[in-house]
Amino acid sequence: MLRIAFFEAKDYDKAAFEPYEKEGETEFRFLETKLTEITAGLAKECDAVCVFVNDSVNAAVIDKLCEYGVKIIALRCAGFNNVDMKYAFGKIHVVRVPGYSPYAVAEHTMAMLLTSIRRIHKAFIRTRDFNFSLNGLTGFDLHGKTVGVVGTGRIGRVFIDICRGFGMNIIAYDAFPAADSGINYVSLDELFEKSDIISLHCPLTDETKHMINADAIGKMKKGVVILNTSRGALIDADALLDGIRARKVGAACLDVYEEEASLFFEDRSGHILNDERLARLISMPNVIVTSHQAFLTAEALSNIAETTMNNIRSYYENDGICDNELCYKDGRIETLSKDRKERCF
Ligand code: NAI
Repeated sequence: MLRIAFFEAKDYDKAAFEPYEKEGETEFRFLETKLTEITAGLAKECDAVCVFVNDSVNAAVIDKLCEYGVKIIALRCAGFNNVDMKYAFGKIHVVRVPGYSPYAVAEHTMAMLLTSIRRIHKAFIRTRDFNFSLNGLTGFDLHGKTVGVVGTGRIGRVFIDICRGFGMNIIAYDAFPAADSGINYVSLDELFEKSDIISLHCPLTDETKHMINADAIGKMKKGVVILNTSRGALIDADALLDGIRARKVGAACLDVYEEEASLFFEDRSGHILNDERLARLISMPNVIVTSHQAFLTAEALSNIAETTMNNIRSYYENDGICDNELCYKDGRIETLSKDRKERCF
């Protein structure tokens, strides 16, 4: 019997995973709560825990999970900045879903951009009220504009393809540029200076934290549109607010926010928002916030469930060699391929 505890499980997670629950073979515990040191006890007697972006998998949580006999932490997402990988090494295996639908995230990014620059969100509210005035709804063409893409992995590249379809000029920055990709790579500074629109698609690391700060915004064009569907802490939100107030930043589309962990994915409409910075951002006429929704398509959810189940099963079927394992080695995290022959530890 394979027992799995799903933390922060929403209705759409249950619907995607339930087809994999088979009597006598698998037992699923869907838990609404986030994984913390206190809630880790709910995973007692489980073989694996399945977690999402805002579950905090720190050293104390890892110790508890090991104490309860949990063998695998299965991330049902691509990013893993919420896991203490160094501490996990040698104690518990960590697997993830590297690419479930780059289209979901890239298309959401374009949806946010179009909504923002064509003022669709404003028009929607106006016409519902039979206000058919066009004053204040002037947008601009994407055709011919320069988009700077930071991070040209799976999602960044799909976004580039979409932008090509709009006839945009594309420049990109990546710490590890893809050879022979035909992508026009420039330095980060040049990207800041030349882009009309900047879209972030790189992971959150010590190096990328607050890469969009006051200094970076200072280098950007007046009226720049900043898109972040990657991780909130890539942007220093205070610097972004200053840039918006100074009319330097023309618009921002944010699917992620640095302090989202205690807010996003829940209905807080009946509460007073304690985060002044987020409240101020949402109050701006040129800021659109979605609550980490970019991944949320039927195709992505189905791929996430299938890959997660295969990742967990592979541990038992391949003598501890997990599919899509994250392995901390020599000070860096290796993302291991499916066809390797050796265990991470
Ligand atoms: P990926 O691993 O395929 O690509 C990431 C790219 O960033 C790589 O080309 C890598 O070389 C580059 N990179 C690494 N360090 C960099 C640095 N210091 N500066 C510039 N580029 C750097 O990842 P993928 O699948 O494209 O996802 C990108 C990010 O999107 C993830 O890290 C995750 O944070 C975020 N994401 C957000 C979702 C959402 O629902 N909003 C859903 C899925 C992913």
